[in-house]
Amino acid sequence: MQKASLRVVKDMTISKVDKRLFGSFIEHMGRAVYGGIYQPNHVTSDEDGFRNDVKELVKELGVTLVRYPGGNFLSGYNWEDGIGPKDKRPVRTDLAWRAIETNQVGIHEFAKWAKEVGVEVNMAVNMGTRGIDEARHLVEYCNFEGGTYWSDKRIENGQKEPFGFKTWCIGNEMDGPWQIGHKTAEEYGRAAAETAKAMKLVDDSIELVACGSSTSHMPTFGDWELTVLDHTYDHVDYLSLHQYYGNPANNLDEYLACSLDMDDFIKGVVAICDAVKAKKHSKKQMNLSFDEWNIWYHSNESDKQIKPWLIAPPQLEDHYNFEDVLVLGTLLITLLKHADRVKIACLAQLVNVIAPIFTEENDNESLAWRQTTFYPFMQAAKYGKGTVMMPLISCDGYKTENYDKVPYLESIAVLNEDETELTIFAVNRSREQMTLSLDTLGLDVESVIGFSHMAGHDIKAVNSLTSGDIKPVASDNYQLADGNLDVVLEGLSWNTIRVVVK
Ligand code: AHR
Repeated sequence: MQKASLRVVKDMTISKVDKRLFGSFIEHMGRAVYGGIYQPNHVTSDEDGFRNDVKELVKELGVTLVRYPGGNFLSGYNWEDGIGPKDKRPVRTDLAWRAIETNQVGIHEFAKWAKEVGVEVNMAVNMGTRGIDEARHLVEYCNFEGGTYWSDKRIENGQKEPFGFKTWCIGNEMDGPWQIGHKTAEEYGRAAAETAKAMKLVDDSIELVACGSSTSHMPTFGDWELTVLDHTYDHVDYLSLHQYYGNPANNLDEYLACSLDMDDFIKGVVAICDAVKAKKHSKKQMNLSFDEWNIWYHSNESDKQIKPWLIAPPQLEDHYNFEDVLVLGTLLITLLKHADRVKIACLAQLVNVIAPIFTEENDNESLAWRQTTFYPFMQAAKYGKGTVMMPLISCDGYKTENYDKVPYLESIAVLNEDETELTIFAVNRSREQMTLSLDTLGLDVESVIGFSHMAGHDIKAVNSLTSGDIKPVASDNYQLADGNLDVVLEGLSWNTIRVVVK
């Protein structure tokens, strides 16, 4: 039996959680849009062709913001192709994924869908094949009241009120050689600064995200951030981070340590932001948008078989297993630990493409279902609102090739807004049971509202249309005596413990 303790002290907090920390991402690729959120012939579809079953699961997941429309797709996209009468919209080649884009879904359709599911849209402008001119026109189209060429076009196309999109990405992964219109840090930094200026001249209420590195393992990581921020620091509000993890070597101990890499990545980017701030004698704090994060590797082989120039091919369709639940849980906890600087984060993506929600291909009848990773995200989004407490953790750990000590316990506590409820998220990386003792200074634990865990499954087990067994279940394996709470965490488990505090 492992032993661990988590101590929180009432006034020792990290930050309030920005609700956009529980964002996600829909790219025009694979079956995310077509055959995912949009499928006109599906039995549940609404009059606009959007699937109501998918909408219900998006709401249940608790997503707060959705980044759109890409991704690599963005860097070859003309947003004007997706407005106006649907039968007049051009069919285009999508060079990023070498697929066919029908443009049957564009800004208007997506914004309506987003409103219905209650999420904010994180819009993006193409910095690959386009730039400053397209970006200013797009902001005018979306956010300007009326009386100008582009805002009147929006009104003509049926949307009187401005969409009022608040957060905008200036391009996507421009550091990546795979990106259409890939740029050096110098080229991107200059272009992003000028584009940002023009966008904010159209609407000074928007917030802008500049591209950081597309993984921390890029050879340009570090230099890219320094150069880009040197140009853009005064004009943008966030710097982006992207990172995907996987277990191709089938090494569970190493896989469970991924969140240590995410932690280092965030700390590194924060350090660079603060160095540029100091160098510029600036008073402004640059915050982070971790606008692509997830597990992505299961579909690598099958993606090699996909033929080019298909409409909505089944790309990046990872089927998530139980070990992915544990890793995703540690990644969520890591994001919460950095809530003071990471204000936006997007689980990439939302439906079918490396996603927590899945629909069956070419099937107009069966309903969308929840992948294993749906649940830790849902619980974090639901109960991770409020203030993140500084976690003082004591536990044993293990050594891997990459890390000297990987703690067996990964955990964080969040105090809700009216300070009546404390939620503890915890992953036990050990294969043994662990007694977790909770010590709360200045907060008396009165009772346990609920303790649920995901545990005891074959680590490679998955959910499917017909079997959804991998989900949280209630546990009563805890003891509360004289305000002291001891919880038994099963070996290899994701846990959510909610207590009433005073
Ligand atoms: O999310 C899938 C792809 O991953 C995105 O298009 C790109 O930005 C990243 O490389």
